[in-house]
Amino acid sequence: AAKQGKAARGLRFAPVAPNTTDAVVVPDGYQQNVVIRWGDPILRGAPAFDPEHQTAKAQAGQFGYNNDFLALLPVPGERGRQILVANHEYTDEVLMFRGYDPANPTREQVEIAWAAHGLAAVVVEEDKRTGKLTAVPRHHLNRRVTATTEFRITGPAAGSDLLKTSADPTGTKVLGTLNNCAGGTTPWGTTLHGEENFNQYFANSSRATDKRYGIGTGASERKWERFDKRFDVAQEPNEAHRFGYIVEFDPYDPTSTPRKHTALGRFKHEGATIRLTADGRPVAYSGDDERFDYLYKFVGSKRMKQGTSRAVREHNLSLLDEGTLYVAKFTGNSPAIEIDGTGKLPSDGEFDGSGEWIPLATATADGAVSHVDGMTAEEVFVFTRLAGDKVGATKMDRPEDVEPNPVSGKVYVALTNNSNRGVGSNAKADEANPRNANKHGHILELTERWNRPESTTFAWQLFLVAGDPNDPATYFAGFPKDQVSPISCPDNVAFDPHGNLWISTDGNALGSHDGLFGVATKGERRGELKQFLTVPNGAETCGPIVQDRRVLVAVQHPGEIDGASVENPKSAWPDGEGKIVRPSVVSVWAVDGSDIGV
Ligand code: FEO
Ligand code: CA
Ligand code: CA
Ligand code: CA
Repeated sequence: AAKQGKAARGLRFAPVAPNTTDAVVVPDGYQQNVVIRWGDPILRGAPAFDPEHQTAKAQAGQFGYNNDFLALLPVPGERGRQILVANHEYTDEVLMFRGYDPANPTREQVEIAWAAHGLAAVVVEEDKRTGKLTAVPRHHLNRRVTATTEFRITGPAAGSDLLKTSADPTGTKVLGTLNNCAGGTTPWGTTLHGEENFNQYFANSSRATDKRYGIGTGASERKWERFDKRFDVAQEPNEAHRFGYIVEFDPYDPTSTPRKHTALGRFKHEGATIRLTADGRPVAYSGDDERFDYLYKFVGSKRMKQGTSRAVREHNLSLLDEGTLYVAKFTGNSPAIEIDGTGKLPSDGEFDGSGEWIPLATATADGAVSHVDGMTAEEVFVFTRLAGDKVGATKMDRPEDVEPNPVSGKVYVALTNNSNRGVGSNAKADEANPRNANKHGHILELTERWNRPESTTFAWQLFLVAGDPNDPATYFAGFPKDQVSPISCPDNVAFDPHGNLWISTDGNALGSHDGLFGVATKGERRGELKQFLTVPNGAETCGPIVQDRRVLVAVQHPGEIDGASVENPKSAWPDGEGKIVRPSVVSVWAVDGSDIGV
Protein backbone atom coordinates (compact mmCIF):
# COMPACT_ATOMS: atom_id res chain seq x y z
CA ALA A 1 0.00 0.00 0.00
CA ALA A 2 1.22 3.50 -0.80
CA LYS A 3 2.52 5.48 2.17
CA GLN A 4 0.75 8.79 2.54
CA GLY A 5 2.23 11.89 4.11
CA LYS A 6 5.58 13.60 4.12
CA ALA A 7 9.00 12.05 3.85
CA ALA A 8 11.13 11.93 6.98
CA ARG A 9 12.64 15.22 8.14
CA GLY A 10 15.89 15.74 6.23
CA LEU A 11 14.62 13.84 3.20
CA ARG A 12 11.95 16.24 1.94
CA PHE A 13 13.22 16.93 -1.57
CA ALA A 14 12.08 15.83 -5.03
CA PRO A 15 14.27 12.85 -5.91
CA VAL A 16 16.64 13.14 -8.86
CA ALA A 17 15.70 10.60 -11.53
CA PRO A 18 18.30 8.10 -12.76
CA ASN A 19 20.16 9.67 -15.69
CA THR A 20 23.35 9.65 -17.73
CA THR A 21 23.95 13.42 -17.79
CA ASP A 22 27.59 14.55 -17.81
CA ALA A 23 27.07 16.83 -14.81
CA VAL A 24 26.27 16.86 -11.13
CA VAL A 25 22.45 16.88 -11.08
CA VAL A 26 20.74 18.08 -7.88
CA PRO A 27 17.05 18.32 -6.88
CA ASP A 28 14.90 21.30 -7.87
CA GLY A 29 15.43 24.11 -5.40
CA TYR A 30 19.09 23.27 -4.78
CA GLN A 31 22.26 24.77 -6.22
CA GLN A 32 25.88 23.74 -6.33
CA ASN A 33 29.43 24.89 -6.77
CA VAL A 34 32.79 23.23 -7.32
CA VAL A 35 34.76 23.83 -4.12
CA ILE A 36 38.16 22.60 -5.25
CA ARG A 37 39.58 20.61 -8.15
CA TRP A 38 42.59 18.46 -8.82
CA GLY A 39 45.53 20.84 -9.33
CA ASP A 40 44.12 23.89 -7.56
CA PRO A 41 47.00 25.45 -5.59
CA ILE A 42 46.56 25.26 -1.83
CA LEU A 43 50.04 25.82 -0.38
CA ARG A 44 52.08 29.01 -0.40
CA GLY A 45 54.19 29.17 -3.56
CA ALA A 46 52.22 26.56 -5.49
CA PRO A 47 51.57 27.62 -9.09
CA ALA A 48 48.23 27.72 -10.90
CA PHE A 49 47.28 24.40 -12.50
CA ASP A 50 48.80 23.87 -15.94
CA PRO A 51 48.14 20.28 -17.01
CA GLU A 52 50.34 20.58 -20.10
CA HIS A 53 53.37 21.55 -17.99
CA GLN A 54 52.69 19.79 -14.70
CA THR A 55 55.61 19.09 -12.35
CA ALA A 56 55.95 17.02 -9.18
CA LYS A 57 56.91 20.15 -7.25
CA ALA A 58 53.77 21.97 -8.40
CA GLN A 59 51.57 18.96 -7.63
CA ALA A 60 52.94 18.71 -4.09
CA GLY A 61 51.46 22.16 -3.36
CA GLN A 62 48.18 21.54 -5.19
CA PHE A 63 45.03 19.54 -4.45
CA GLY A 64 45.69 15.88 -5.35
CA TYR A 65 43.97 13.48 -7.72
CA ASN A 66 40.86 11.34 -7.17
CA ASN A 67 39.34 12.85 -4.05
CA ASP A 68 37.53 10.20 -2.00
CA PHE A 69 36.75 10.52 1.74
CA LEU A 70 35.98 14.04 3.01
CA ALA A 71 35.94 15.44 6.53
CA LEU A 72 35.00 18.93 7.68
CA LEU A 73 36.23 20.25 11.03
CA PRO A 74 35.78 23.67 12.63
CA VAL A 75 38.54 26.29 12.46
CA PRO A 76 38.76 27.84 15.93
CA GLY A 77 38.38 31.61 15.90
CA GLU A 78 37.59 31.92 12.20
CA ARG A 79 33.86 32.27 11.61
CA GLY A 80 32.37 30.63 8.54
CA ARG A 81 35.51 28.62 7.95
CA GLN A 82 36.14 24.88 8.22
CA ILE A 83 39.05 22.58 7.41
CA LEU A 84 38.29 20.19 4.59
CA VAL A 85 40.38 17.01 4.73
CA ALA A 86 40.33 14.85 1.60
CA ASN A 87 41.77 11.50 0.56
CA HIS A 88 43.49 11.25 -2.80
CA GLU A 89 43.00 7.57 -3.43
CA TYR A 90 44.86 6.89 -6.66
CA THR A 91 46.03 8.35 -9.96
CA ASP A 92 44.73 7.62 -13.42
CA GLU A 93 47.73 8.45 -15.60
CA VAL A 94 45.99 8.18 -18.99
CA LEU A 95 43.60 10.94 -17.88
CA MET A 96 46.41 13.08 -16.36
CA PHE A 97 49.18 13.06 -18.98
CA ARG A 98 48.90 13.77 -22.67
CA GLY A 99 50.53 10.96 -24.66
CA TYR A 100 50.97 8.73 -21.61
CA ASP A 101 52.70 5.43 -22.44
CA PRO A 102 51.71 2.90 -19.76
CA ALA A 103 54.66 0.66 -20.68
CA ASN A 104 57.20 3.46 -20.23
CA PRO A 105 56.24 6.08 -17.66
CA THR A 106 58.81 8.84 -17.19
CA ARG A 107 60.37 9.69 -13.83
CA GLU A 108 58.57 13.05 -13.81
CA GLN A 109 55.20 11.36 -14.42
CA VAL A 110 55.85 8.88 -11.62
CA GLU A 111 56.90 11.63 -9.21
CA ILE A 112 53.79 13.66 -10.13
CA ALA A 113 51.70 10.58 -9.33
CA TRP A 114 53.43 10.22 -5.94
CA ALA A 115 52.63 13.87 -5.20
CA ALA A 116 49.01 13.44 -6.39
CA HIS A 117 48.38 10.59 -3.92
CA GLY A 118 47.80 10.97 -0.17
CA LEU A 119 45.77 13.53 1.72
CA ALA A 120 44.97 17.22 1.53
CA ALA A 121 43.88 19.63 4.22
CA VAL A 122 42.48 22.91 2.94
CA VAL A 123 40.52 25.57 4.75
CA VAL A 124 37.21 26.43 3.07
CA GLU A 125 34.92 29.36 3.70
CA GLU A 126 31.30 30.12 3.03
CA ASP A 127 30.31 33.23 1.10
CA LYS A 128 27.29 34.38 3.11
CA ARG A 129 25.87 36.25 0.13
CA THR A 130 26.02 33.51 -2.52
CA GLY A 131 26.12 30.38 -0.33
CA LYS A 132 29.19 29.13 -2.20
CA LEU A 133 31.93 27.26 -0.40
CA THR A 134 35.41 28.13 -1.66
CA ALA A 135 38.97 27.18 -0.75
CA VAL A 136 41.27 29.57 1.13
CA PRO A 137 44.67 29.13 -0.54
CA ARG A 138 47.82 29.59 1.56
CA HIS A 139 46.00 29.22 4.89
CA HIS A 140 48.47 28.11 7.57
CA LEU A 141 46.45 24.92 8.21
CA ASN A 142 46.55 23.87 4.56
CA ARG A 143 48.72 20.84 4.01
CA ARG A 144 49.52 18.09 1.56
CA VAL A 145 50.56 14.59 2.55
CA THR A 146 51.85 12.49 -0.35
CA ALA A 147 53.38 9.11 -1.18
CA THR A 148 56.71 10.44 0.12
CA THR A 149 55.70 12.17 3.39
CA GLU A 150 57.21 10.64 6.51
CA PHE A 151 54.81 8.61 8.70
CA ARG A 152 55.29 7.04 12.10
CA ILE A 153 54.23 3.42 12.55
CA THR A 154 52.63 2.94 15.97
CA GLY A 155 50.99 0.16 17.95
CA PRO A 156 51.87 -3.49 18.55
CA ALA A 157 53.62 -4.24 15.23
CA ALA A 158 55.77 -1.08 15.24
CA GLY A 159 59.43 -2.07 15.32
CA SER A 160 58.64 -5.69 14.44
CA ASP A 161 61.08 -7.55 12.19
CA LEU A 162 58.20 -7.86 9.71
CA LEU A 163 58.29 -4.08 9.21
CA LYS A 164 62.06 -3.47 8.97
CA THR A 165 63.55 -2.42 5.64
CA SER A 166 66.98 -1.39 4.43
CA ALA A 167 65.90 2.26 4.56
CA ASP A 168 64.31 1.88 8.00
CA PRO A 169 66.01 -0.69 10.25
CA THR A 170 63.77 0.50 13.14
CA GLY A 171 60.52 -0.66 11.49
CA THR A 172 58.82 2.52 12.71
CA LYS A 173 59.15 5.03 9.88
CA VAL A 174 57.63 4.79 6.42
CA LEU A 175 57.31 7.16 3.53
CA GLY A 176 53.83 7.92 2.35
CA THR A 177 50.31 6.62 2.34
CA LEU A 178 48.63 5.00 -0.67
CA ASN A 179 45.12 4.30 -1.88
CA ASN A 180 43.29 6.13 0.88
CA CYS A 181 39.67 5.34 0.26
CA ALA A 182 37.07 6.07 2.93
CA GLY A 183 37.72 7.30 6.46
CA GLY A 184 36.27 8.81 9.57
CA THR A 185 36.43 11.80 11.88
CA THR A 186 37.34 11.05 15.50
CA PRO A 187 35.63 12.60 18.55
CA TRP A 188 39.05 14.01 19.51
CA GLY A 189 39.38 16.06 16.32
CA THR A 190 41.58 14.00 14.03
CA THR A 191 40.80 12.11 10.84
CA LEU A 192 41.22 8.44 9.94
CA HIS A 193 42.00 7.19 6.46
CA GLY A 194 41.93 3.62 5.14
CA GLU A 195 44.81 2.35 3.00
CA GLU A 196 42.82 0.16 0.64
CA ASN A 197 44.19 -1.42 -2.56
CA PHE A 198 47.87 -0.94 -1.68
CA ASN A 199 48.71 -4.23 -3.39
CA GLN A 200 48.63 -2.60 -6.85
CA TYR A 201 51.76 -0.52 -6.17
CA PHE A 202 54.05 -3.50 -5.44
CA ALA A 203 55.80 -5.80 -7.92
CA ASN A 204 57.57 -9.15 -8.12
CA SER A 205 56.33 -11.06 -5.08
CA SER A 206 56.35 -14.83 -4.73
CA ARG A 207 55.12 -15.10 -1.11
CA ALA A 208 51.82 -16.74 -0.15
CA THR A 209 51.10 -14.00 2.40
CA ASP A 210 51.40 -11.34 -0.33
CA LYS A 211 49.18 -13.40 -2.62
CA ARG A 212 46.41 -13.32 0.02
CA TYR A 213 46.60 -9.52 -0.30
CA GLY A 214 46.61 -9.53 -4.09
CA ILE A 215 50.24 -8.46 -4.58
CA GLY A 216 51.30 -9.71 -8.00
CA THR A 217 54.20 -11.78 -9.24
CA GLY A 218 55.13 -9.46 -12.10
CA ALA A 219 55.53 -5.76 -12.79
CA SER A 220 53.07 -3.32 -11.22
CA GLU A 221 50.65 -1.38 -13.39
CA ARG A 222 52.39 1.98 -12.78
CA LYS A 223 55.95 0.58 -12.87
CA TRP A 224 57.01 2.54 -9.79
CA GLU A 225 59.46 -0.24 -8.91
CA ARG A 226 61.66 1.06 -11.73
CA PHE A 227 62.06 4.37 -9.92
CA ASP A 228 62.16 3.30 -6.26
CA LYS A 229 63.19 -0.23 -5.32
CA ARG A 230 60.98 -0.18 -2.22
CA PHE A 231 58.07 -1.03 -4.53
CA ASP A 232 59.92 -4.16 -5.71
CA VAL A 233 59.12 -6.94 -3.24
CA ALA A 234 61.98 -9.07 -4.59
CA GLN A 235 64.42 -6.33 -3.54
CA GLU A 236 62.69 -4.91 -0.45
CA PRO A 237 60.43 -7.66 0.92
CA ASN A 238 58.98 -5.84 3.93
CA GLU A 239 58.00 -2.49 2.41
CA ALA A 240 54.57 -3.86 1.44
CA HIS A 241 54.01 -4.83 5.08
CA ARG A 242 54.05 -1.10 5.88
CA PHE A 243 50.88 -0.35 3.87
CA GLY A 244 47.31 -1.50 4.47
CA TYR A 245 46.74 0.31 7.75
CA ILE A 246 44.46 2.94 9.20
CA VAL A 247 46.20 6.31 9.04
CA GLU A 248 45.53 9.04 11.61
CA PHE A 249 46.04 12.67 10.65
CA ASP A 250 45.95 15.76 12.89
CA PRO A 251 44.54 18.62 10.80
CA TYR A 252 45.22 21.15 13.57
CA ASP A 253 48.99 20.64 13.57
CA PRO A 254 50.48 21.08 10.09
CA THR A 255 53.90 20.01 11.41
CA SER A 256 52.69 16.73 12.92
CA THR A 257 53.88 13.37 11.64
CA PRO A 258 50.85 11.31 10.59
CA ARG A 259 50.61 7.79 11.99
CA LYS A 260 49.81 4.29 10.82
CA HIS A 261 48.03 2.32 13.53
CA THR A 262 48.97 -1.37 13.44
CA ALA A 263 46.54 -2.28 16.25
CA LEU A 264 43.64 -1.97 13.78
CA GLY A 265 45.18 -4.67 11.61
CA ARG A 266 46.43 -4.78 8.05
CA PHE A 267 44.01 -5.42 5.22
CA LYS A 268 42.33 -3.44 2.43
CA HIS A 269 40.85 -0.98 4.88
CA GLU A 270 37.99 0.90 3.29
CA GLY A 271 37.98 3.29 6.24
CA ALA A 272 37.38 3.40 9.99
CA THR A 273 34.69 5.07 12.03
CA ILE A 274 34.50 5.57 15.77
CA ARG A 275 31.89 5.24 18.46
CA LEU A 276 32.86 5.83 22.09
CA THR A 277 31.98 3.48 24.95
CA ALA A 278 30.11 4.99 27.91
CA ASP A 279 33.46 5.37 29.72
CA GLY A 280 35.10 7.13 26.76
CA ARG A 281 37.06 4.38 25.00
CA PRO A 282 37.11 4.31 21.20
CA VAL A 283 35.59 1.48 19.21
CA ALA A 284 36.60 1.54 15.53
CA TYR A 285 34.66 -0.31 12.82
CA SER A 286 36.40 -1.19 9.57
CA GLY A 287 35.60 -3.22 6.46
CA ASP A 288 38.05 -5.10 4.23
CA ASP A 289 36.86 -4.29 0.73
CA GLU A 290 37.35 -7.49 -1.21
CA ARG A 291 34.89 -10.12 -2.31
CA PHE A 292 34.58 -12.74 0.46
CA ASP A 293 36.58 -10.71 3.00
CA TYR A 294 35.71 -9.67 6.51
CA LEU A 295 34.29 -7.04 8.83
CA TYR A 296 36.43 -5.96 11.82
CA LYS A 297 36.27 -3.85 14.92
CA PHE A 298 38.85 -2.61 17.38
CA VAL A 299 37.92 -1.92 21.01
CA GLY A 300 40.37 0.47 22.67
CA SER A 301 41.38 0.19 26.32
CA LYS A 302 42.39 3.82 26.92
CA ARG A 303 39.93 6.63 27.60
CA MET A 304 39.69 9.78 25.56
CA LYS A 305 40.57 12.99 27.42
CA GLN A 306 38.76 16.28 26.89
CA GLY A 307 40.68 19.40 25.97
CA THR A 308 42.98 20.81 23.35
CA SER A 309 46.33 21.12 25.14
CA ARG A 310 49.32 19.50 23.50
CA ALA A 311 49.47 16.79 26.19
CA VAL A 312 45.78 15.94 25.77
CA ARG A 313 46.07 15.76 22.00
CA GLU A 314 49.15 13.54 22.28
CA HIS A 315 47.27 11.23 24.65
CA ASN A 316 44.28 11.00 22.33
CA LEU A 317 46.53 10.27 19.35
CA SER A 318 47.62 7.10 21.21
CA LEU A 319 44.07 5.80 21.80
CA LEU A 320 44.16 3.48 18.82
CA ASP A 321 47.39 1.79 19.92
CA GLU A 322 46.05 -0.36 22.78
CA GLY A 323 43.03 -2.64 22.72
CA THR A 324 41.62 -5.75 21.08
CA LEU A 325 41.03 -6.41 17.40
CA TYR A 326 38.00 -8.55 16.51
CA VAL A 327 36.54 -10.05 13.33
CA ALA A 328 32.84 -10.66 12.73
CA LYS A 329 31.01 -13.96 12.41
CA PHE A 330 27.36 -13.74 11.29
CA THR A 331 24.83 -16.48 11.99
CA GLY A 332 21.37 -16.57 10.48
CA ASN A 333 18.51 -17.64 12.72
CA SER A 334 16.62 -19.50 9.98
CA PRO A 335 17.73 -22.13 7.47
CA ALA A 336 19.60 -20.15 4.81
CA ILE A 337 17.72 -19.31 1.65
CA GLU A 338 18.56 -16.96 -1.15
CA ILE A 339 16.73 -13.71 -1.94
CA ASP A 340 15.93 -14.96 -5.42
CA GLY A 341 13.15 -12.79 -6.70
CA THR A 342 10.32 -15.17 -5.92
CA GLY A 343 9.42 -13.31 -2.75
CA LYS A 344 10.26 -16.34 -0.63
CA LEU A 345 11.35 -15.39 2.90
CA PRO A 346 13.28 -17.24 5.60
CA SER A 347 11.02 -19.36 7.83
CA ASP A 348 10.86 -16.60 10.47
CA GLY A 349 9.93 -14.02 7.82
CA GLU A 350 13.17 -12.05 8.00
CA PHE A 351 16.79 -12.08 6.94
CA ASP A 352 18.29 -11.61 10.36
CA GLY A 353 20.21 -13.32 13.09
CA SER A 354 22.98 -12.97 15.61
CA GLY A 355 26.70 -12.40 15.44
CA GLU A 356 29.89 -12.72 17.35
CA TRP A 357 33.04 -10.61 17.45
CA ILE A 358 35.91 -13.11 17.53
CA PRO A 359 39.04 -11.71 19.24
CA LEU A 360 42.21 -11.90 17.14
CA ALA A 361 44.85 -10.17 19.28
CA THR A 362 45.16 -7.71 22.17
CA ALA A 363 47.71 -4.91 22.38
CA THR A 364 48.70 -3.49 25.77
CA ALA A 365 51.40 -1.12 26.98
CA ASP A 366 53.44 -4.17 28.00
CA GLY A 367 53.17 -6.08 24.74
CA ALA A 368 50.65 -7.95 22.64
CA VAL A 369 48.91 -11.31 22.94
CA SER A 370 47.57 -13.39 20.06
CA HIS A 371 44.22 -15.17 20.33
CA VAL A 372 44.78 -17.13 17.12
CA ASP A 373 46.40 -20.57 17.25
CA GLY A 374 49.62 -20.75 15.27
CA MET A 375 50.06 -16.99 14.82
CA THR A 376 52.06 -14.55 16.94
CA ALA A 377 50.43 -11.23 17.84
CA GLU A 378 52.71 -9.43 15.37
CA GLU A 379 51.62 -11.83 12.64
CA VAL A 380 47.97 -11.21 13.47
CA PHE A 381 48.41 -7.45 13.17
CA VAL A 382 50.42 -7.66 9.90
CA PHE A 383 48.69 -10.65 8.25
CA THR A 384 45.23 -9.94 9.60
CA ARG A 385 43.41 -11.57 6.68
CA LEU A 386 45.10 -14.87 7.49
CA ALA A 387 43.99 -14.56 11.11
CA GLY A 388 40.40 -14.02 9.94
CA ASP A 389 40.70 -17.11 7.72
CA LYS A 390 41.88 -19.22 10.66
CA VAL A 391 39.06 -18.31 13.04
CA GLY A 392 36.29 -18.85 10.49
CA ALA A 393 35.09 -15.26 10.06
CA THR A 394 32.10 -14.76 7.74
CA LYS A 395 32.96 -14.11 4.10
CA MET A 396 31.13 -10.94 3.10
CA ASP A 397 30.15 -9.26 -0.19
CA ARG A 398 32.86 -6.52 -0.17
CA PRO A 399 32.54 -4.73 3.18
CA GLU A 400 33.05 -1.07 2.38
CA ASP A 401 32.13 1.83 4.61
CA VAL A 402 30.91 0.76 8.08
CA GLU A 403 29.51 3.46 10.30
CA PRO A 404 27.65 3.72 13.60
CA ASN A 405 24.57 5.95 13.56
CA PRO A 406 25.37 8.76 16.04
CA VAL A 407 21.66 9.02 16.93
CA SER A 408 20.80 5.33 17.52
CA GLY A 409 24.16 3.55 17.86
CA LYS A 410 23.14 0.98 15.25
CA VAL A 411 25.97 0.12 12.85
CA TYR A 412 25.42 0.15 9.08
CA VAL A 413 27.60 -2.02 6.84
CA ALA A 414 27.67 -1.22 3.12
CA LEU A 415 28.37 -4.36 1.08
CA THR A 416 29.01 -3.08 -2.43
CA ASN A 417 28.50 -6.21 -4.52
CA ASN A 418 29.88 -9.68 -5.16
CA SER A 419 29.14 -11.09 -8.57
CA ASN A 420 31.11 -14.22 -7.59
CA ARG A 421 28.85 -15.18 -4.67
CA GLY A 422 27.59 -18.72 -5.25
CA VAL A 423 29.51 -19.05 -8.52
CA GLY A 424 31.50 -22.29 -8.92
CA SER A 425 33.05 -23.42 -5.65
CA ASN A 426 32.67 -19.97 -4.00
CA ALA A 427 30.63 -19.49 -0.84
CA LYS A 428 26.91 -19.54 -1.54
CA ALA A 429 24.28 -17.08 -0.37
CA ASP A 430 23.76 -17.10 3.39
CA GLU A 431 21.32 -15.16 5.50
CA ALA A 432 23.68 -12.15 5.84
CA ASN A 433 24.80 -12.21 2.19
CA PRO A 434 21.51 -13.44 0.77
CA ARG A 435 21.92 -13.02 -2.97
CA ASN A 436 24.01 -15.17 -5.31
CA ALA A 437 25.79 -13.29 -8.13
CA ASN A 438 25.15 -10.15 -6.07
CA LYS A 439 25.54 -7.38 -8.68
CA HIS A 440 23.95 -4.52 -6.76
CA GLY A 441 25.02 -5.02 -3.12
CA HIS A 442 23.17 -4.66 0.17
CA ILE A 443 23.32 -2.99 3.58
CA LEU A 444 23.20 -4.68 6.98
CA GLU A 445 22.15 -3.10 10.25
CA LEU A 446 23.91 -4.31 13.40
CA THR A 447 22.75 -3.75 16.97
CA GLU A 448 25.48 -4.37 19.52
CA ARG A 449 24.30 -6.24 22.64
CA TRP A 450 22.78 -3.72 25.11
CA ASN A 451 23.67 -1.13 22.43
CA ARG A 452 27.21 -1.02 23.82
CA PRO A 453 29.88 -0.75 21.12
CA GLU A 454 32.34 -2.89 23.12
CA SER A 455 29.96 -5.89 23.27
CA THR A 456 31.26 -9.13 21.79
CA THR A 457 27.89 -10.22 20.41
CA PHE A 458 25.33 -8.44 18.27
CA ALA A 459 22.03 -8.85 16.48
CA TRP A 460 21.74 -8.00 12.81
CA GLN A 461 19.13 -7.62 10.13
CA LEU A 462 19.01 -6.90 6.46
CA PHE A 463 18.29 -3.19 5.92
CA LEU A 464 18.49 -2.83 2.16
CA VAL A 465 18.99 -5.09 -0.85
CA ALA A 466 19.92 -2.76 -3.69
CA GLY A 467 18.78 -2.85 -7.31
CA ASP A 468 15.86 -1.75 -9.42
CA PRO A 469 12.85 -1.72 -7.09
CA ASN A 470 10.92 -3.60 -9.80
CA ASP A 471 13.31 -6.49 -9.21
CA PRO A 472 11.53 -8.70 -6.63
CA ALA A 473 14.90 -9.61 -5.06
CA THR A 474 15.33 -6.02 -3.76
CA TYR A 475 14.32 -4.92 -0.27
CA PHE A 476 13.97 -1.46 1.26
CA ALA A 477 13.43 -2.25 4.95
CA GLY A 478 9.81 -3.05 4.09
CA PHE A 479 8.99 0.36 2.57
CA PRO A 480 6.70 0.21 -0.51
CA LYS A 481 9.01 -0.30 -3.45
CA ASP A 482 7.04 1.82 -5.88
CA GLN A 483 8.02 4.86 -3.80
CA VAL A 484 11.80 4.51 -3.67
CA SER A 485 14.68 5.36 -6.03
CA PRO A 486 16.67 2.62 -7.78
CA ILE A 487 20.12 2.19 -6.21
CA SER A 488 23.11 -0.01 -7.03
CA CYS A 489 26.48 -0.63 -5.37
CA PRO A 490 26.34 1.18 -2.00
CA ASP A 491 29.84 2.25 -0.98
CA ASN A 492 30.31 5.21 1.38
CA VAL A 493 27.80 6.00 4.10
CA ALA A 494 27.20 9.02 6.32
CA PHE A 495 24.50 10.33 8.65
CA ASP A 496 22.69 13.65 8.64
CA PRO A 497 21.84 15.45 11.89
CA HIS A 498 18.43 13.67 11.94
CA GLY A 499 19.95 10.18 11.89
CA ASN A 500 19.02 9.44 8.26
CA LEU A 501 21.53 7.29 6.42
CA TRP A 502 23.13 8.74 3.29
CA ILE A 503 24.66 6.36 0.78
CA SER A 504 26.97 7.09 -2.13
CA THR A 505 27.44 4.53 -4.87
CA ASP A 506 30.36 3.14 -6.87
CA GLY A 507 29.77 1.16 -10.03
CA ASN A 508 26.02 1.48 -10.62
CA ALA A 509 25.12 -1.67 -12.54
CA LEU A 510 21.67 -0.40 -13.59
CA GLY A 511 22.97 1.59 -16.60
CA SER A 512 22.63 5.06 -15.06
CA HIS A 513 25.20 7.18 -13.24
CA ASP A 514 26.38 6.83 -9.66
CA GLY A 515 24.91 9.12 -7.06
CA LEU A 516 24.00 10.00 -3.50
CA PHE A 517 20.88 8.79 -1.71
CA GLY A 518 19.23 9.45 1.64
CA VAL A 519 17.15 6.88 3.51
CA ALA A 520 15.23 7.02 6.77
CA THR A 521 16.41 4.49 9.36
CA LYS A 522 13.55 4.73 11.86
CA GLY A 523 9.86 5.49 12.17
CA GLU A 524 7.16 4.75 9.65
CA ARG A 525 9.24 6.12 6.77
CA ARG A 526 12.08 3.65 7.50
CA GLY A 527 13.40 2.37 4.17
CA GLU A 528 12.14 5.30 2.08
CA LEU A 529 15.19 5.84 -0.11
CA LYS A 530 15.52 8.94 -2.32
CA GLN A 531 18.21 9.99 -4.74
CA PHE A 532 19.70 13.42 -3.97
CA LEU A 533 22.22 13.79 -6.76
CA THR A 534 23.95 12.09 -9.66
CA VAL A 535 27.56 12.52 -10.87
CA PRO A 536 29.12 12.96 -14.35
CA ASN A 537 30.24 10.34 -16.89
CA GLY A 538 32.50 7.66 -15.46
CA ALA A 539 32.53 9.13 -11.94
CA GLU A 540 31.96 7.54 -8.57
CA THR A 541 30.29 9.44 -5.72
CA CYS A 542 32.46 9.55 -2.59
CA GLY A 543 32.98 11.12 0.80
CA PRO A 544 29.48 12.40 1.48
CA ILE A 545 29.05 14.91 4.29
CA VAL A 546 25.53 16.02 5.18
CA GLN A 547 25.40 19.03 7.46
CA ASP A 548 22.29 21.02 8.40
CA ARG A 549 22.50 23.32 5.40
CA ARG A 550 25.05 21.73 3.09
CA VAL A 551 25.90 18.49 1.33
CA LEU A 552 29.43 17.84 0.16
CA VAL A 553 30.48 15.08 -2.22
CA ALA A 554 33.77 14.09 -3.79
CA VAL A 555 33.34 13.39 -7.48
CA GLN A 556 35.99 10.77 -8.05
CA HIS A 557 37.46 9.65 -11.40
CA PRO A 558 35.10 11.55 -13.75
CA GLY A 559 35.69 10.43 -17.34
CA GLU A 560 37.21 7.11 -16.30
CA ILE A 561 35.67 5.01 -19.05
CA ASP A 562 37.38 2.35 -21.18
CA GLY A 563 39.33 3.97 -23.99
CA ALA A 564 39.37 7.43 -22.43
CA SER A 565 42.57 9.51 -22.41
CA VAL A 566 43.58 13.17 -22.34
CA GLU A 567 43.34 13.10 -26.15
CA ASN A 568 40.00 11.28 -26.13
CA PRO A 569 38.07 12.46 -23.08
CA LYS A 570 34.75 10.86 -22.17
CA SER A 571 33.63 13.68 -19.90
CA ALA A 572 33.79 17.47 -20.08
CA TRP A 573 33.33 17.95 -16.34
CA PRO A 574 33.93 20.22 -14.51
CA ASP A 575 35.55 22.84 -16.77
CA GLY A 576 33.80 22.18 -20.10
CA GLU A 577 34.67 20.90 -23.58
CA GLY A 578 38.33 20.93 -24.50
CA LYS A 579 39.47 21.13 -20.87
CA ILE A 580 41.16 18.32 -18.98
CA VAL A 581 38.78 16.31 -16.75
CA ARG A 582 39.37 17.02 -13.04
CA PRO A 583 38.20 15.10 -9.97
CA SER A 584 36.64 17.74 -7.71
CA VAL A 585 34.68 18.38 -4.53
CA VAL A 586 31.14 19.74 -4.93
CA SER A 587 28.99 21.62 -2.41
CA VAL A 588 25.17 21.60 -2.62
CA TRP A 589 22.73 23.78 -0.70
CA ALA A 590 19.13 24.98 -0.87
CA VAL A 591 18.55 28.06 -3.02
CA ASP A 592 16.50 29.65 -0.24
CA GLY A 593 19.15 28.85 2.37
CA SER A 594 16.93 26.47 4.33
CA ASP A 595 18.15 23.24 5.90
CA ILE A 596 18.68 20.21 3.67
CA GLY A 597 15.47 18.24 3.13
CA VAL A 598 13.12 20.10 5.45
FE1 FEO B 1 38.14 2.54 -2.82
FE2 FEO B 1 36.31 0.14 -1.59
O1 FEO B 1 36.49 1.65 -2.59
CA1 CA C 1 15.88 -15.00 10.04
CA1 CA D 1 35.08 3.26 -1.73
CA1 CA E 1 31.48 7.25 5.89
